[in-house]
Amino acid sequence: MSDHTDEKPKHLRSTEWFGKTDKMGFIYRSWMKNQGHPIHMFDGRPVIGICNTWSELTPCNAHLRDFAEAVKRGVYEAGGFPVEFPITSLGETLMKPTAMLFRNLASMDAEESIRANPIDGVVLLTGCDKTTPSTVMGAASVDLPTIVVPGGPMLNGKYRGQNIGSGTHVWKFSDDVRTGQMTPKDYIFAESCMSRSNGHCMTMGTASTMACMVESLGLTLPGAAAIPAVDARKKLLAHMSGMRIVEMVKEDLKISKILTRKAFENSIRVNAAVGGSTNFIIHLLAIAGRMGVELELDDFDKLGSRIPLLVNLMPSGKYLMEDFFYAGGLPVVLNEMQEYLHKDVMTVNGKTMGENIAEADCNCYNRDVIYPIDQPILKEAGIAVIKGNLSEDGAVIKPSAATPALMKHRGRAVVFETIEDYHARVDDPDLDIDETCVMVLKNVGPVGYPGMPEVGNMGLPKKILAKGVTDMVRISDGRMSGTAYGTVILHVSPESAIGGTLAFVQNGDMIELDVANRSLHLDIPKEELAHRRRNWAAPQPPTDRGYVRLYVNHVMQASKGADLDFLVGKSGSEVARDSH
Ligand code: FES
Ligand code: MG
Repeated sequence: MSDHTDEKPKHLRSTEWFGKTDKMGFIYRSWMKNQGHPIHMFDGRPVIGICNTWSELTPCNAHLRDFAEAVKRGVYEAGGFPVEFPITSLGETLMKPTAMLFRNLASMDAEESIRANPIDGVVLLTGCDKTTPSTVMGAASVDLPTIVVPGGPMLNGKYRGQNIGSGTHVWKFSDDVRTGQMTPKDYIFAESCMSRSNGHCMTMGTASTMACMVESLGLTLPGAAAIPAVDARKKLLAHMSGMRIVEMVKEDLKISKILTRKAFENSIRVNAAVGGSTNFIIHLLAIAGRMGVELELDDFDKLGSRIPLLVNLMPSGKYLMEDFFYAGGLPVVLNEMQEYLHKDVMTVNGKTMGENIAEADCNCYNRDVIYPIDQPILKEAGIAVIKGNLSEDGAVIKPSAATPALMKHRGRAVVFETIEDYHARVDDPDLDIDETCVMVLKNVGPVGYPGMPEVGNMGLPKKILAKGVTDMVRISDGRMSGTAYGTVILHVSPESAIGGTLAFVQNGDMIELDVANRSLHLDIPKEELAHRRRNWAAPQPPTDRGYVRLYVNHVMQASKGADLDFLVGKSGSEVARDSH
């Protein structure tokens, strides 16, 4: 028996509500009974919260209302009492100015909803990019037994005989329309070819990256990440997760016993091997911060940048999540990576990662999708953390999505002060730019936008695309979509809006990038930089009220995970006082 079962809970926290015999017990039970729950549901059995990010405005999660029913079946079967509740759902495609602005808000919603209610253990139903980190951050702050059911990717996009990937082909097709290689009519036709089933983006974008993240952290049952949303085995997984969370409550297998420093190290390495999104960095740093686990931006480079790339998925590679599932999914990757992983870490099924690998079917059924560790796609993948006078606290690049020839580059800066400035001038035929230049975009960081949108992979000027050039060095304090690609330096910290060096770059300055040496240098004299700094005024935030005010005043830089400073550290599940 594993050591996490040593500490048995004296009693379940839900008995502080439903086990009471006084007036408060009446209040706690009576109103719940209006839903038709019989008295034995209140007899001290584990109460399981099903935290649902379902929303029709989050199309990637639109099927999760249905999935909650499968979780409930599992909970009932195991003798628990399931209670589903909605929380703020963050849809990547519709929310303005960016879903990222609201990740911390949703995490607070998840945290307080779990803590305030008579919940002994929680199932997180997630899918679209921010819905996974926000719910995990919230659950980590409460520290109850927690299991994640990732909603699963869409089926492969299919366009006129060709596989097309969520996001990745949006960038490609929109460039094709701009250069006249695709008609506007075909562009509209492609929309329904891309998104043809329930589920999240089926590239190795941020949603798939987050699914792999929770599986590699040990927060899902083995094999959960890759199962397509519409495959019956995803509902089976939801059912089994419902059964398992009841046992986890009995074993007091809290999330803090799973999210250890070793688990985070595993996840960083696995993210490198699957070619995961750069957004992974910000979300993992934020989750670690909530747990009180020491994790730094440099750890991503130290632990991840020498890991071989095994998974051949867009945007770095060729295939899509459905192919990844049929090839064997993440268990195959974990099996290949054994020498790089801490195998003694605990996972939600009560077994260690090593035990799970030993018991799983880790055969690979398509070696063009998942490569063996001794013959990887690339010897070194992962994320490089780049520092220099232009990014004192670090910036990041995903080398597997970049152009090798541009990884060492010196070029003249072409500066866009804001995203509006970029849109207004990028296709201007008179813009003084060629393919050797470095495109610089300011004021798209956490404070500057606000919310750090996915605009760092700004499209190239039309006149450069027309020459057949597809990549240039681009630098910003923003993020890029996990489905995007290019030689793109992201997450520059400190950001321009708070007076990072990026704020002082001007047209014509020379910038030197050297990924191998991890450096990013603005080549201007020190006195000139000091002069520009003295004459600089910080941009004004768009509003001084509401959540945006709270966010702008408290958000930490990307290099620290962009969480709100007062949310760092877990506060536990205790609530001393009753409501009446
Ligand atoms: Fe929801 Fe990509 S837009 S996962
Ligand atoms: Mg995204």
